[in-house]
Amino acid sequence: MLTPTTHARRRRLLAERLPGPVLLLGNGQRARNLPMTKLPFRQDSTFLYFTGCDLPDAAALLIDGRCELFLPAPADDDALWHGHVTTLDAIRDTLGVDAVLPTERLEERLTGLRARTLAVADEGRNVLGSRLCGVPLRFGRDHGDEALMDAVIELRRAKGPDEIEQMRLAAHATHQAYLATIGGTAPGGHERGLWTLFEAVLRLHGLTTGYDTILSQSGEILHNPHHSDALTEGRMVLLDGGGELPSGYGVDITRTWPVSGRFDTRQRAAYAAVLEAQLASIALCTPGRRYREVHDRSCEVLARFLVDEKLIRGSVQEALERHAHALFFPHGVGHLIGLDVHDLEMFGDRPSYPPGVGRPEPFGTCYLRLDLPLQEGWVVTVEPGFYVVPAILHDPALRERFADLVDFEAAERWIGFGGIRIEDDVHVTAAGPDVLTEAVPKGIDELEALIGTGPTPEQRLSV
Ligand code: GLY
Ligand code: MN
Ligand code: MN
Repeated sequence: MLTPTTHARRRRLLAERLPGPVLLLGNGQRARNLPMTKLPFRQDSTFLYFTGCDLPDAAALLIDGRCELFLPAPADDDALWHGHVTTLDAIRDTLGVDAVLPTERLEERLTGLRARTLAVADEGRNVLGSRLCGVPLRFGRDHGDEALMDAVIELRRAKGPDEIEQMRLAAHATHQAYLATIGGTAPGGHERGLWTLFEAVLRLHGLTTGYDTILSQSGEILHNPHHSDALTEGRMVLLDGGGELPSGYGVDITRTWPVSGRFDTRQRAAYAAVLEAQLASIALCTPGRRYREVHDRSCEVLARFLVDEKLIRGSVQEALERHAHALFFPHGVGHLIGLDVHDLEMFGDRPSYPPGVGRPEPFGTCYLRLDLPLQEGWVVTVEPGFYVVPAILHDPALRERFADLVDFEAAERWIGFGGIRIEDDVHVTAAGPDVLTEAVPKGIDELEALIGTGPTPEQRLSV
């Protein structure tokens, strides 16, 4: 369980790695339109990791083994508008920190300290941190103190048992949401209905989503934000969604299934290839294995499928060497996951590539988000896919480059197929890959047995 002792232990581990005071900034509350109407608040993940405090506008000073938390003091009329007011002392006791002080004391406390700090997503907070610590801070650009960043990366990247337990809880609720959504799929329904049902089940379990849920029959649009089409016989639903607990830990799962309840011949062949690729890549998720090999294994299986389907004319070897398979699998096989869905990605490629090594150039691998030897305790996604993307297949430069290797006429006959992705979250252990999200059905028979067996969202909501 995550308790104040967990957060205190993490602060101790940080202090052992790093001398001197550290200022941790939390995110602020951001207005949606008027200041009284807010965007949903999400705490900065590093702040959560070391404090467990999910209140807006918080800051924490870690100094001499102590943790001083700074929060806006409650206003006199908070009880009237927002209900029960928790005192700063009560927050101190609940979180197990040494002191909770009103925000006005932060500036005076930081004066002359030269504390290390890191940027957060909220630029308003970065302006404050920059002024207090005398360093430039800008999200995605000026990350802050490098030694602090490296220590945070090292600690957050390897998940402990309490973190894995949180991710299993998120996986359990997300599994329930998938069962309801796959079971509620039937021609005549609507993508919007399935999306609503998926999100509703997560919310009934007390979770939110760690990222915008993708639910679409146009799965070839990788991060498709729309769910505006009627469910149509012959198409497939791609759902990429994951629940996030109040602790911040979440999962990232994708499943694809046919609206009709039966994969047709072509869908079945492509699905079987993606599943084979995923299982082969998952098997490689062991300590010491370079993640690039996990990616390459999926590419091999998919390239073989493309040759078998006569979409690629040359050999598997040639397709792989020239990255022709990336026309149909244009993204990387996965990423780190934990408190953030792309864990630690706010620090750029530093957490996921060796020092001095940038993203590879070739089409396809430039979207590989991780290329390090895996370590025990890391959690990574494994999410190969097969997509028929008109924008790629009709791109004049790509058509010219691959004219001898790809049968673009044959590919044309696949336009409208959509996309298939299968994604699970894998905990790397010495005993082998531990698939945290494996309960969510992905076998062809399992899926076909489940589709349409439950009430549709429209039936559940009587609309
Ligand atoms: N859900 C976003 C991703 O899979 O990376
Ligand atoms: Mn993912
Ligand atoms: Mn995903």
